[in-house]
Amino acid sequence: MPRITFVDFSGTERTVEAKAGSTVMEAAMQNGVPGIDAECGGGCACATCHVYVEEEWREIVGPTQPMEEDMLDFASDVRANSRLSCQIEVRPELDGLVVHTPARQG
Ligand code: FES
Repeated sequence: MPRITFVDFSGTERTVEAKAGSTVMEAAMQNGVPGIDAECGGGCACATCHVYVEEEWREIVGPTQPMEEDMLDFASDVRANSRLSCQIEVRPELDGLVVHTPARQG
């Protein structure tokens, strides 16, 4: 199973195994990773699953989709590498992915 590392704003790393076909948000929730609220449950309707994709992974993860882009307007401290983790599908090639969680969601 692909492994994903979440780094929180204080620098603490948590690496979890994620099922291919699930989402990065689901991997966080299923493994009790703090820093992601996911209030809408993955419907791209809350922007509380905001993460920053580590630079070297941005191209592999892919670009934001138009609906996601609109929702990101509701997130705080949005940067060029911001993504909504419920919109990142776990694929085998994402094994080793590193994402950072923001200091706060929403
Ligand atoms: Fe609500 Fe991702 S969980 S937008």
